[in-house]
Amino acid sequence: MPKDLPPTIENRWDILYRDFPDVYDAFAAVPKDPDTFAVLRQHFDFQGKRILDVGSGTGSSTLTVARWAEAVIGLEIEDAMRALALRQTVAAGILNASFVPGSALDIPFKDNYFDLVLAVTLPIFRPEEIRRFAAESLRVTKQGGFVVNVGIAPFWYGGDLAAVILGEERVTEVDTEGVFHRVLADELHFDFFDYEAQQEYGSLDAILSTYGFIFGRKAMDYLTEHRQTAIRWTFRVHYCRKA
Ligand SMILES: C[S@@+](CC[C@H](N)C(=O)[O-])C[C@H]1O[C@@H](n2cnc3c(N)ncnc32)[C@H](O)[C@@H]1O
Repeated sequence: MPKDLPPTIENRWDILYRDFPDVYDAFAAVPKDPDTFAVLRQHFDFQGKRILDVGSGTGSSTLTVARWAEAVIGLEIEDAMRALALRQTVAAGILNASFVPGSALDIPFKDNYFDLVLAVTLPIFRPEEIRRFAAESLRVTKQGGFVVNVGIAPFWYGGDLAAVILGEERVTEVDTEGVFHRVLADELHFDFFDYEAQQEYGSLDAILSTYGFIFGRKAMDYLTEHRQTAIRWTFRVHYCRKA
């Protein structure tokens, strides 16, 4: 066991977003194989589009989309996350990405404005919030445009360490991710598909100080004991074309 394990915030994502945006950014920057947008681009056209990225965080999803979009706006509720996104955008000299404060539940844009509304791992979990997010996203999407939500698949919280983090028994009980599916697919008839991706952190230090810091002591102990530096995930993409 390494002597100086980094501290952990034990799954307190609110603290992560408010106090440690740089750690979130390092976690988000670990490449996924396949890359999220390589998968999304097989299904959706970002080229020349006006796009809203809901829950844009430190800009990882927004700045990737900016490569193809005419313009992309990140909507982000947490000031610290938005500030880091803006700094990175300016540092990279990206001119077609901007960020606005606001909530997924009350999107501050007029009706029929975007070609595509995207959310990548938006952390809302109550059915009424997801219904509201879906209604707001569809409202600001143009006719013929798409709403696309990328989330962790049900029972995959923390990826392949779900049972370690939550405990063998709780892993099938704790189904925060499944709420998206019940609202978007079962109630609102969004289409969906799943895909698997692997994140290789490259070293034990790197995985402990990002993934381990976020997902907690049990994950850190397991990774250290097994000298594991990669995490497998299953993601679920829900999408709907606005009629
Ligand atoms: C897991 S991060 C995803 C960031 C980014 N999409 C990415 O791919 O790296 C989720 C972000 O959603 C933000 N968020 C949480 N609730 C929100 C809401 N109701 N409206 C807008 N953003 C929200 C959080 O502050 C956080 O920055």
